[in-house]
This record gives sequence, structure tokens and C-alpha cells, in this order.
Amino acid sequence: MTIKIFVPRDSSALSLGADKVALAVAGEAARRGANVEIVRNGSRGMFWLETMVEVATSRGRVAYGPVMPEDVASLFESNFLNGGEHRLGLGLTDEIDYLKNQERLTFARVGITDPVSLQDYIDHDGYRGLKNALGMEGAAIVEQVTQSGLRGRGGAAFPTGIKWKTVLSAAADQKYVVCNADEGDSGTYSDRMIMEGDPFVLIEGMTIAGIAVGATQGYIYLRSEYPHALQVLNEAIDLAVASNYLGKDILGSGKTFHLEVRRGAGAYVCGEETSLLESLEGKRGIVRFKPPLPAIEGLFGKPTIINNVISLASVPIIMDKGGEFYRDYGMGRSRGTLPIQLAGNLKRCGLVEKAFGVTLRELLYDYGGGSASGRPIRAVQVGGPLGSYLPESQFDVPLDYEAFTNIWAVLGHGGIVAFDDTVDLAQMARYAMEFCAVESCGKCTPCRIGSTRGVEVMDNIIANHDRAANVALLRDLNDTMLNGSLCALGGMTPYPVLSALNHFPEDFGLQKTQQAA
Ligand SMILES: Cc1cc2nc3c(=O)[nH]c(=O)nc-3n(C[C@H](O)[C@H](O)[C@H](O)COP(=O)(O)O)c2cc1C
Ligand code: SF4
Repeated sequence: MTIKIFVPRDSSALSLGADKVALAVAGEAARRGANVEIVRNGSRGMFWLETMVEVATSRGRVAYGPVMPEDVASLFESNFLNGGEHRLGLGLTDEIDYLKNQERLTFARVGITDPVSLQDYIDHDGYRGLKNALGMEGAAIVEQVTQSGLRGRGGAAFPTGIKWKTVLSAAADQKYVVCNADEGDSGTYSDRMIMEGDPFVLIEGMTIAGIAVGATQGYIYLRSEYPHALQVLNEAIDLAVASNYLGKDILGSGKTFHLEVRRGAGAYVCGEETSLLESLEGKRGIVRFKPPLPAIEGLFGKPTIINNVISLASVPIIMDKGGEFYRDYGMGRSRGTLPIQLAGNLKRCGLVEKAFGVTLRELLYDYGGGSASGRPIRAVQVGGPLGSYLPESQFDVPLDYEAFTNIWAVLGHGGIVAFDDTVDLAQMARYAMEFCAVESCGKCTPCRIGSTRGVEVMDNIIANHDRAANVALLRDLNDTMLNGSLCALGGMTPYPVLSALNHFPEDFGLQKTQQAA
């Protein structure tokens, strides 16, 4: 009997030596004449355990990690092919606490299947959503997505169904579906993990989107820093075309959808949807005025759905199990699940998919295991470089779009970066301004000039040059950026800057009472 051994091919695992581990396993198996098949799966998202090797046994999959090439011989000695005990043994994978208590809807297959096996995808409920969609009118598909309550996971949390309805209603000879895979936020990697670990779910989601609104061409705009995702996506697209899940007359339905990957060139602002469209058209990535919305005049001036990877990858399960099923998860107006990415100073960084409503404290301590340094966690930045810094007193706020709005914070793409008590929030605030100055597309004055002047003002505050007057100036400048910027790059830089100033005034040389100055 052939025994299946799983060694991840995800770039997080590769960076920790997964290829060498796979080679060592193959070599040791050959030496011992063991009949094994090595499957290169995606990562389960527990990075401190990578390279995590799993063996399929009669009891289920048994995990070992973190495995180094030099551990492989002893694993074989310990009868790991039958799930034998070893110092790196983690027991049944599904019983690992970190995984057991998650609600993996979008990530249901990641780490379980072979990302480039179409058959494995189909065997694990893949393409059921598309098959349902092919038998429906476009408006009925859009209605399911609307009912699910899905809101864009790229940052702005705009209802996906409403966006799709606008594109469906627009009359045009050509429409497009564009996937925003620029994933530029600090501490985020869920898009990458889906693309490397379950590319077909994104391909299926985009195909459903195309069929729903009558778009026949799709593009995945992929950040250039993701070479492994590029390779996996292209391989999966070729397989889908070969089996008629993409292309003309999909599965004999008469519907057409073509899909291609395009690479970005490393600009953070090209994650902003209109700037992305400019870049996709071969121009410099500069933000466009809105209106017109991309849903009306998007790529090459045609009606365009532009959605984040996770938004699109959540569609197949909605079309398979129904909008109501997805809507049952979550709280308030935040429905479904969010793939949360833990990063920074934590013992257990990784991907946690949970229904909305989980608190930061649960994520930081129950999942993250507290700080890696062993020191108290002093602040977290949620939602990427334009997200607010939150103090410990806000760790019990549930992850919910509206609850975060109420504390002047954002969930963004679900990235959480933790800092211990050695962090200097004045330096972090300065960094946010500098980031804006470096990444600004230059189209509007509050951002282009404001961020550069902002760095100078911050330097004066930090150096205690006329501090009180400069704090007042900084607040005034942030007010202009917040209200006068054309897009959220300039418009949200005040979030990290002012949240740091308001919650941690002592780092700016101010007393708590002085902060309002
Ligand atoms: C500066 C800036 C960078 C952005 N970067 C990304 C990104 O990397 N990925 C993404 O999906 N959305 C990003 N967005 C949000 C997009 O403009 C847009 O809201 C999103 O692609 C819409 O998809 P969704 O509705 O599925 O979230 C960014 C926005 C701004 C202002
Ligand atoms: S806010 Fe900044 S990035 Fe956005 S349009 Fe203005 S200059 Fe460009």
C-alpha cells in the first residue's frame, strides 16, 4: 500500500526548508524501500511548526513539526509512516487546538489538498458552486452573493453583491472581472496562502463572478513578490482550461470565461483599485477620480468587477451551500468569516479563520500564545500600514467592521501585527508618515506634500523643538489629509499617526493630559 506523506510547498514552508525536507523524505523512503507518495500541499497556516510534515494513517492525518532534513531519518526510525511517536509528533492534525477551533470556510481545503490537482479539488467539494451557478440566471447568482452578506475583504468592506449588481446592470459589449492580488498590507498573507494552497477556489470564484455579470475575461493582478503563487496559478489555470472549467462553452453551458495573470511592479498604491486598473492597462499606477466607479467604467473603460482574492475565493462556498449558510456566521453587519493573519511579536504567528466576533485578546493569547519576547503586548496594529494602533484597553473589542469604526480603527484585510512594551509609538507614527510620502502616487496635494511635511513635523516633535505647537500643527495637517485626500493612502495615514499620538502620548514626550494640545 502506498502511504501518502504531505510536505507543504507554500512559500512560508519553502523559506523554512520544505524542499530539503521533501528531498530527505524521498531519499530515506527510497533507502528503506518504503512505498510512499509525497504530496506537496499548501500550508495549514501554523508557521512556527513549518516545515510541518503529515502522514495519512488509518486514524487520520498525523502531524510532525517543525521538521528539519536532519530529523527525517529518526522519523522513519520511529515508525512515522504509521503515525508513530516522535519528539516532533503533534498528534492528529485536525485535533491541534490552533486548527480545531477555527471556522475554515474559505480556507476549507488549504493544507489538505494538492493545490495543482484538479481531481483533488473536485474530490473535496470543488466546482460545486460553479455547477450550481451555471444553471442560474445572473441576477439569481448576484442575489445569493448579496444574501450572504459578504463584504469586500480587501479593506473597504463594501458589499460584494451590490458591486456585482451594478456591473450586471451596466450595458456593454465587454465586461471584466479583476482580482486584486496586490496584497501590500504589512502582516498580511491570506491571499498568498489561498493562491498557493488552493488556486482553484479563486479561479472558480472568478468564473462565477464572470458568469453572474456577463464578463468573459478575467485578470488576476498579482504582486511581483509572489513568484510561487504565479507558478501555481498558471499551472491551475492551464489545468482548468484543459478540462473546460475555463474558456469557451464552460462544461457545455454556452458560457465563456477566460482568465490570465498579470504581474504588478511593487507599488503599494497599485493595490488601490483605480490605480491597479491604470497599471493593468500598461500605464503608471496613478489613482483615478471617482466617479465613474470601476463597476461602470473600469478596465479599458468597460464595466468591471474588482474584488480582493479572499472576497472572490469566498464565493464558491456561498454558491455551493447558499447565501444563508454563509450569513449564519458572524455578528451584526459583518457576516461570514475573516481569515485573520497573526504577525509581529507573537509566539504563534499564522492564519486563523474565524467568524466575525472573535476578540483581539482571544487572537493574541489563545491563538498567538502571547508575545514571542515574553514581554507584555503593548500595542497592535490592525488592518495594515494605514490601520490604527490599539492599546491593551481595546483588546476586548470584537472583530466587527462597525465595532472597529466606533473606536476609530479598521479591520482592513485582517492583518494583526503585535508589538511588546519596547515599541516606540512615536517612531511608528513617523514611519507611517514616511511610508505615505514614499508610496504616494502624487496626484493630490494633501498626500503628496502633506506626508513630506508630516515627517518634518514629527521629527520636530520627537526632537522636542517647540513640541506643543508642532503637535497642534500635526493634528491640523492630519485633518487636511483625512478630509482632503483623493484616496485612502493619504486619507488613512492619520489613523496610525493619530491613534499612536492619542493612545500613547508619553512616547511623544507628552503627558496624558497634554495630548489634546
Ligand atoms: C493604498 C491602497 C492600497 C490597497 N491595497 C489593496 C490590496 O493590496 N489588495 C486589495 O484587495 N485591496 C486593496 N485596496 C482596496 C482596493 O482599493 C479595493 O477596495 C478592493 O480591491 C475592492 O475589493 P473588495 O471589495 O473585494 O475588498 C487598497 C486601497 C488603497 C487605498
Ligand atoms: S491620497 Fe496619495 S496616493 Fe491617493 S490619490 Fe492622493 S496622492 Fe495619490
